[in-house]
Amino acid sequence: MTATSPDPYRTGPHGAPPPGCPAHREGPGGAQRLYGRAAAADPAALYEGLRARHGAVAPVLLEGDVPAWLVLGYDEILHVTRSPRRFSRDGRNWSRWIEGRIGPDAPIAPVLLWGPDCAHQDGAAHQRLRGAVHESLRRFDRRGLRRLAQHNAHGLIDRFAADGRADLVAQYARQLPVLTLTQLLGLPEPEGPRLAEASRQLLLGTERAVTSDRYLKRALCGLVERKHAAPGHDLASWLIAHPAGLSEEEVGHHLRLVLVAANEATTNLIVNTLRVFVHPAFRGPLLGGRMTPHAAVEQVLWDEPPIAVCPGGFALQDVELGGRHIRRGDLLLLGLAAANADPEIRPAPGAPMHGNRSHLAFTSGPHECPGQEIGRAICVTAVEVLLARLPGLRPAAGPEELTWSASTWSRHLDALPVAFTPRRPAAAEPERAGGPPPRPVRQPAWGQAAGPAAPGAGSAAGPVAAGGRVGRRAPAVRAVLARLRGR
Ligand code: HEM
Repeated sequence: MTATSPDPYRTGPHGAPPPGCPAHREGPGGAQRLYGRAAAADPAALYEGLRARHGAVAPVLLEGDVPAWLVLGYDEILHVTRSPRRFSRDGRNWSRWIEGRIGPDAPIAPVLLWGPDCAHQDGAAHQRLRGAVHESLRRFDRRGLRRLAQHNAHGLIDRFAADGRADLVAQYARQLPVLTLTQLLGLPEPEGPRLAEASRQLLLGTERAVTSDRYLKRALCGLVERKHAAPGHDLASWLIAHPAGLSEEEVGHHLRLVLVAANEATTNLIVNTLRVFVHPAFRGPLLGGRMTPHAAVEQVLWDEPPIAVCPGGFALQDVELGGRHIRRGDLLLLGLAAANADPEIRPAPGAPMHGNRSHLAFTSGPHECPGQEIGRAICVTAVEVLLARLPGLRPAAGPEELTWSASTWSRHLDALPVAFTPRRPAAAEPERAGGPPPRPVRQPAWGQAAGPAAPGAGSAAGPVAAGGRVGRRAPAVRAVLARLRGR
């Protein structure tokens, strides 16, 4: 949009919506709001309604009724993510910013406006910063990471194993990623939950988003100062030491980016995968029964990607996309959940994908998630350890009693109540008795890190390490899966 161009939901070849059409009553100009109670109620139906009315690219409204284009088509998302010369991630190219119509205090500002982290950069600047993050993340040893996640998972289960009942959202899925990430980042453990809550508020886009963001920046900048003085084996110290020479401010912003990008997404992925294993009602015709946790995670990444919508950039020139005329400066959003269900590439929503990894849950192109293998590893570990520790796991609430909360970017289950045969805590296990958590560290020089050169080229969530705890429990896992199959 330029100063002379109308908002996107009033333009384009499809023209104005028909008067009185209920589907268009939502926001000013008839564009669909992507936020609020109605949008949260059934996002999949909302995306399909938009696809039916507008095709692969639809005009929508963000918090504050800020106009944007939602890209719903699989091919169209690939085009946007792989054309950085046409679509910039730098919020200073947004016409609303240029025109002074959005400021740093807007609830969606922390996600969309320019910041000194790689998510908001293009070209060489992006490569420099992302290279530092990617290479630092690759310094974590995969087996060590799995052992750390296993250690944390067992610790959490110990707290409720004797009760015979638990809410797997509050007592497990919401806690495991933040516990593990706190240790990876180099933060003192007690700071984790508050930082996780702040990162959640930031993504919700409420009035608390801006103050939460300030708190996150303060806390993480404090960490950078401490790690400068006393480096450790953690992401903060490795980013400081990286040859790309990140400033203190840049290191702090990338720690914030990792926390925000990783915590909510990994939590959602764990919850959605556990729901499939716990609730027979949520298994597709094949899902769950014959699936390993690895395959189930991949299926969930297709069916319910943890980040349903993510910022896709700002058009650098007028361009046609999906039959729409996008103007220079317009904001594009990537409808990842919608694209994964695009009838052009998928026979039917929910169709089994048999471990196929070509979904868009991590997007594609230069910004594709560099932490995806860490996210997969934490999630698969969460599922394996829980199923092994709590045989007889069953839902304690019917599917119709489950409720979700949603923002523009994602939706999550509020609670997942389960019942199981009470177990004794396993704190006496030799690996965990009294000792510190395992350190997921390896120490190659920069540029020599082993492992996949590109995201998605390998799997940290591959077979469990020989001698690893879950490896030794594999028969138990198989027994639980066999029982689940019988349901
Ligand atoms: C399974 C859970 C995860 C999902 C579904 C997920 C998904 C995503 C998505 C959709 C993006 C946006 C990509 C784009 O802008 O095109 C992203 C970016 C990013 N993610 Fe993840 N993520 C997950 C876990 C993680 C973890 C565990 C980490 C780090 C430990 C991480 C670090 C990042 C970073 C640093 C970016 C920004 C990359 C860039 O702009 O170049 N993510 N992620």
